[in-house]
Amino acid sequence: MRKTTAKTAAQQPDWDEAELAAVIEELRSRAPLVDAGSCHALRGELEVVARGEAFVIQGGDCAEPFADSAAPRVQRKAALLDVLGDLVEHVAGLPVVRVGRLAGQYAKPRSSPTETGADGTVLPVYRGDAVNDPAPEPGARRADARRLLRAYDHAATALDALFLNQFLLPTAGLSPTYVSHEALLLDFERALVRPDGLRGGWYGSSGHMLWIGERTRQLDGAHLEFAATVNNPVGVKIGPTATADDVAAIIELLAGGHRAGRLTLIVRMGARTIGTALPLLLTGLGHRARDVVWLCDPMHGNTVRSASGRKTRVVSDVAAEVEAFCAVLRAHGVYPGGLHLELTPDDVTECVDTHDRLAVDDFPRFESACDPRLDGEQAERVVRLAAELLRR
Ligand code: PEP
Ligand code: CO
Repeated sequence: MRKTTAKTAAQQPDWDEAELAAVIEELRSRAPLVDAGSCHALRGELEVVARGEAFVIQGGDCAEPFADSAAPRVQRKAALLDVLGDLVEHVAGLPVVRVGRLAGQYAKPRSSPTETGADGTVLPVYRGDAVNDPAPEPGARRADARRLLRAYDHAATALDALFLNQFLLPTAGLSPTYVSHEALLLDFERALVRPDGLRGGWYGSSGHMLWIGERTRQLDGAHLEFAATVNNPVGVKIGPTATADDVAAIIELLAGGHRAGRLTLIVRMGARTIGTALPLLLTGLGHRARDVVWLCDPMHGNTVRSASGRKTRVVSDVAAEVEAFCAVLRAHGVYPGGLHLELTPDDVTECVDTHDRLAVDDFPRFESACDPRLDGEQAERVVRLAAELLRR
């Protein structure tokens, strides 16, 4: 735990304080990565989603590697989001807001600060490229604050590639892609807060949409406090233990006094739990549930281990959570606004289709540095299911 204000910030790396101070000073002097106007534009698009007139596809890597800021990688990921968006537009007849976990998804909260390597040595855990290196060696795993400057540089490179893509949009027939990441490393996020000259107030210039994770959404914590200070569209992950009182307080803190579209709740309860936990939440919230955008993250509540010990996810569980999410929200008169997925255009073997594959699969191409992602074909199946549910 690290105290950066009066409130406690969970999940902060064990930085060298002198190194960190120099890095913060440098980041403060840098140009914003995204402009306030496009953050505001995304809020407007999310307001349309809150009204039930558009759908969100938010997706990308669990942990985005720095190396993926190369233009062909960024454009391939944006192209997959676009294909998925087109699918919803075609099947459900709704416009789709495309939001990447892209150009900044470089930091990970972890359930344990250490891990035991294959040879029995205990190592600090990998916390994302903005913090340390995934190589299983003690030196590589040291939290290195200078990596925050590399995170800024790689995000800038990725955004250049994306905007080059967007410049060509009309001719290529593509739609704009916004970028988002978990606002985990508060020293980094705070150093990139900039004034919004046109509208007043402040915005986080590290990405269009910033979300707070399940492990850092404490009501008295520094992450929600940070989210309340910026005018970006913000998200909060909602896991199975969140109470209606918790969520009502989050809505009050982050959406109170704002138009709909300011706050997105990203539900990640798990296929087995959502059917009981989400109705309780919605009943407790009543009409307040309609002030926000509701997305389904059917990944993070459905992580299981294969027989060989791999962290994986079963696509049938992912699909079951999407179905339950849509059914429960509909039953409460609330619009299911979209999907939040971990996915990749690469030909990987990270998620399995059915439970029986847990016993046999050996995951020859498990390439994620963190959680297992849907491949393009699996993602298409999940998105098609949601689109068909929307049409009904
Ligand atoms: C994530 O989105 O990669 C993540 C860590 O999710 P959550 O905060 O929902 O566990
Ligand atoms: Co993840």
